[in-house]
Amino acid sequence: MSAASPREYSVRPARSQDADAISVIYNEGIADRATLETESRTPDERRSWLAARDARHPVVVVEADGVVVGWASLNVFNARDAYRHVADISVYVARAARAKGAGSALLHRLVELGREVGFHKLVLAGFPTNAASVALYRHLGFREVGVYREQGLLDGRWVDVLLMERLL
Ligand SMILES: CC(C)(COP(=O)(O)OP(=O)(O)OC[C@H]1O[C@@H](n2cnc3c(N)ncnc32)[C@H](O)[C@@H]1OP(=O)(O)O)[C@@H](O)C(=O)NCCC(=O)NCCS
Repeated sequence: MSAASPREYSVRPARSQDADAISVIYNEGIADRATLETESRTPDERRSWLAARDARHPVVVVEADGVVVGWASLNVFNARDAYRHVADISVYVARAARAKGAGSALLHRLVELGREVGFHKLVLAGFPTNAASVALYRHLGFREVGVYREQGLLDGRWVDVLLMERLL
């Protein structure tokens, strides 16, 4: 159903100059209640966030016609040493660019990067009601681990959280 093939997008490592676009795109996702994160970000905060990433936890952006329309990252899942082979992931696409293949392009690249830097598994926590994200992750081979019931309190309502994983 995606209108555009991932090949029409270019995915590259994020640079400091991408902090503005990344903050705008993240804030759209936060406002759309796609995440349990509720605190809006600023370009400066995202610049510091980018600067603090290490080689195993990169951030990438996807461009269409030279414009950044999404970002994705490999995040620390758990600081305990035994979890060092697991990465948590984030994928966010600008509202105006959703459902056109950009999320798929980002997730394809995250899977490649996960392998390149030696992770054994990618995991994520999302909302079971987020049809686009469930479809995206399923399509890229993620399986549903289970649902935490009433895991977060968002806008005064309990929300369930869906855990998904993909072995690399
Ligand atoms: C979730 C998100 C990253 C998906 O990226 P996208 O660019 O919109 O997705 P794509 O166009 O690559 O489509 C991926 C799959 O989802 C499906 N899909 C896209 N939007 C959909 C929707 N609104 N409802 C149902 N399925 C949808 C597509 O059909 C496609 O499946 P297919 O390849 O089997 O046809 C994007 O919608 C987004 O940023 N949403 C807000 C933030 C968010 O939810 N992030 C994930 C938090 S876990």
